[in-house]
Amino acid sequence: MSEVKQIFKPNREFAANARIKNMCEYQALQDWAIEDYEGFWGSYAKEKITWAEPFTNVLDESSAPFVKWFDGGKLNVSVQCVDRHLETRKNKAAIIFEGDRGDVQAITYLDLFKNVNRFANLLKEDFGVTKGDRVVIYMPMIPETAYAMLACARIGAIHSIVFGGFSAEALRDRIEDAEAKVVITADGSFRKTKPYMLKPVVDVALEGETPVEKVLVVERNNEDVAWKSGRDYSYNELIKDKSSQCEAEIMDAEDPLFLLYTSGSTGKPKGVQHNSAGYILWAQMTMEWVFDVKENDTYWCTADVGWITGHTYIVYGPLAMGATTVMFEGVITFPDAGRPWAMVENHRINQFYTAPTAIRVLHKMGEDAPAKYDLSSLKVLGTVGEPIDPPAWKWYYEEVGNSNCAIVDTYWQTETGGHVVSPLPGATPIKPGCATLPLPGIMAEILDPATGEVSEVGETGYMCITKPWPAQIRGVWGDEERYVKSYFGDVKKDDKAVYFTGDGARYDEDGYITITGRTDDVINVSGHRMGTAEVEAAIKKHANVAEVAVVGKPHELKGEGIFAYIVLKSDDGVADEVEEVKAINGIIKKEIGNIALCDDIVFAPGLPKTRSGKIMRRILRTIAKGEKITQDISTLEDPTVVAKLEEMVNG
Ligand code: WTA
Repeated sequence: MSEVKQIFKPNREFAANARIKNMCEYQALQDWAIEDYEGFWGSYAKEKITWAEPFTNVLDESSAPFVKWFDGGKLNVSVQCVDRHLETRKNKAAIIFEGDRGDVQAITYLDLFKNVNRFANLLKEDFGVTKGDRVVIYMPMIPETAYAMLACARIGAIHSIVFGGFSAEALRDRIEDAEAKVVITADGSFRKTKPYMLKPVVDVALEGETPVEKVLVVERNNEDVAWKSGRDYSYNELIKDKSSQCEAEIMDAEDPLFLLYTSGSTGKPKGVQHNSAGYILWAQMTMEWVFDVKENDTYWCTADVGWITGHTYIVYGPLAMGATTVMFEGVITFPDAGRPWAMVENHRINQFYTAPTAIRVLHKMGEDAPAKYDLSSLKVLGTVGEPIDPPAWKWYYEEVGNSNCAIVDTYWQTETGGHVVSPLPGATPIKPGCATLPLPGIMAEILDPATGEVSEVGETGYMCITKPWPAQIRGVWGDEERYVKSYFGDVKKDDKAVYFTGDGARYDEDGYITITGRTDDVINVSGHRMGTAEVEAAIKKHANVAEVAVVGKPHELKGEGIFAYIVLKSDDGVADEVEEVKAINGIIKKEIGNIALCDDIVFAPGLPKTRSGKIMRRILRTIAKGEKITQDISTLEDPTVVAKLEEMVNG
């Protein structure tokens, strides 16, 4: 089915000064990559990265899907992000931090250099952290988090950030899987002016046996927290006598930089591994191309550093290119929905990057708020994490951007390291809700999984990337087989297994790509990726739960909400539904965190299953959406269960 969408051309004045100025330039770059893939990437790698030793080979695919980029090259990512800017940007703000309570701190590149070096010395001297060690970071949005990341990079340690909203159990799982020897945390942080505690969660996560030897605590809000002597140390104390010079470890291009756990279609999250050179190259290039940040610009990404967006587009990308990146501790709707716009006005922000779910909330809570502020500094508005719906897009474009800014709908994933399909703000005519075209160098194609052929216009196919790219995932930590099976098992093109994102997508008549959503059992709640199997595993820990199936359901603000069908063990029905729902959400909170709480719970008499016992999730999704069942249910083990569920859910 073809669809007609409005087209918005780039602002001419902006385009004239953009790095990629028009579609001809875009096409020339993409043609270059198609014709001479290694030449294209080799040339950018040479130009953009400050190498300690040059690479000798661009791409080694001999053990595909295990690939090597820029073999022989040596570098240090903290040098790329900090040291190399000292000559020209010493006094430029690297990070502008705004605290929850409005406290503002500008950290220059020189300050950043000193802080990262001191932090690196601390980890090395006091904790004995060396190259290859895993360090878990469970931190709020404060500058010390960026220092910690870059300090790990400086000494060759592999960081694994766990989002501060995850529970002690979720933190424990990730610590154990990575066999981390150090945890870096804070006593807490401020959210809506109230203390938000982190250290107590770490204490629970480390109860019993643990690979963790030392815990470093940044004292942010000076709340009283328990202290285990011999294990817990104060950052504020230890940092005092550290030298601000720490030699950077010389790393191989393919040495791991970090792990980031993300949800897949099974219960256990995957430790996505990113390596040094390829990741930082693409982080920097996409910052330059997609946000088109200029030397005196101020850029703000509202993500949390616990997700990939925070890694690539708050810390690594902006700092690699020498930009000024804003870091915000608080909640964007506090004290009211004008907060982000006040920040844009106060800091004269030029590029603003957020998730559609945040746009929907800001729109709902403060439709007229943007008009009360001077937003004339804005040039580029970005979205990420989920498809953006037309009303949210329209408001963002007209009210926030004054119909004058490009909206870059950036499509990518934890595994892709950086953007893969996105408009270029000075070149690409945009259509609301459409991620548009592959970025230069990225061979993104929508394929028919059955034939491996490129999908026809209007047909939904599988969003694939048919050639390795520098910032791609290098492995699933500790599980080679899972890496191959999860990403290279579903689609073959010309008999070669290609990377499959897990998303469906379709082309329109202009060849533009619209992402249609996940094809697997992963849902997207407020832009956070959640495996339904993970939520099910948590719910199953309730003693009275016999069976459970979790599906996504469209949600006005969150994009998708979590809908659980639960079959209880006792046949006498539910004694007290309210109490039972509380108990189940209590378990989810303990096992995963508040981000996975269910929006709807239905105590079902049974689940629709095939005769071989497979739960028919498609039927459950249809019922949750309130739609009519059109598929054939006669082959179900017990077809009557469908009518019962329909009656319960939709009356
Ligand atoms: C979804 C976030 C539509 C998609 C960077 C992907 C999107 C998952 C978009 C990755 C977009 C991300 N339009 N859907 N612009 N961007 N997604 O790993 O389903 O947290 O697979 O990375 O978010 O989520 P992740």
